[in-house]
Amino acid sequence: MARPRILVTRPVTEDALALLRAECDVTVGPGDREASRQEILDALRDCDGLLIVGHTRVDATLLDAAPKLRMIANFGVGVDHIDVAAATARKVWVSNTAGSLTETTAELGWALILATVRRVAEGDRLVRAGQWKGFGAFFFLGTELVGKTLGIVGAGRIGQAVARKAPAFGMKALSWSRTPKPDFGAQPRELDALLRESDVVILTVSLSAETRHLIGAREIGLMKKSAFLVNIARGPVVDEAALARAILDGKIAGAGLDVYEKEPEIHPDLLRCPNAVLAPHIGSATVETRRRMSFLAAENLLAGLNGRVPPLALNPGARVSGNSAS
Ligand code: DGY
Repeated sequence: MARPRILVTRPVTEDALALLRAECDVTVGPGDREASRQEILDALRDCDGLLIVGHTRVDATLLDAAPKLRMIANFGVGVDHIDVAAATARKVWVSNTAGSLTETTAELGWALILATVRRVAEGDRLVRAGQWKGFGAFFFLGTELVGKTLGIVGAGRIGQAVARKAPAFGMKALSWSRTPKPDFGAQPRELDALLRESDVVILTVSLSAETRHLIGAREIGLMKKSAFLVNIARGPVVDEAALARAILDGKIAGAGLDVYEKEPEIHPDLLRCPNAVLAPHIGSATVETRRRMSFLAAENLLAGLNGRVPPLALNPGARVSGNSAS
């Protein structure tokens, strides 16, 4: 029987690639950038499997251009770039790497909280520019976290992991979620109340039609002038122009962002905000986590190609298990 052909849109770890190469003919996309839509369409035409690293858009057009496709493994948890319903309609399994990056992404959330309230990136820029004139009682004051309130928007795995670390910083945690969740140490609030009460608001909610621009000018207007907004979810959850305007007008104290509306473009007004810490979408970017994600994506891909329901399938019923050829 012919070996399955697969496209890996950008390199994953060598040992995960070796796992794939043992069973499949593997094409790997560019290491230094996301492949263009046309490159993906050309490479995918005869492929049985696709491993997406990054945010390659998978829609009906792309699926129709790859009639042999049976399995899509996403390297990451968020699948807002994949039309899962369109894949299901075409009997294509879609998997993600749920559970592989929870703590890493929560840690980045805390890194951004701390960097933002204590002005770490701004201080680094000042030192490098040779502008530091020495210690002063009122020099470069930040905001302390102890005794303050953290508002967590989204109570999934990552939101809950962020909440678990709040007591270590002496913070009270609140949370808002679209669906009620069992107690995980953060007091539930309506979104508006959470925005009003919190000193730091952190977004961990997944992107969907309901959460696109969940945080806009009105919501930011509810926040305290002294509060900070941190986004480790998806850029389009926030109206970026409204956020930049609010920071520049002093309506909130600052922001820590890992994700943006049109990555890798950044709204020009955000670049003008010294009190915005801007990270390049590195929530899951640790050696340990990326290794885990590489294996999980490869294992799910191979399971699907071998006719087994991928362990992390988002649409397990898309195909009948055991029939790798259908
Ligand atoms: C995720 O897992 O969703 C990361 O943000 C990468 O897309």
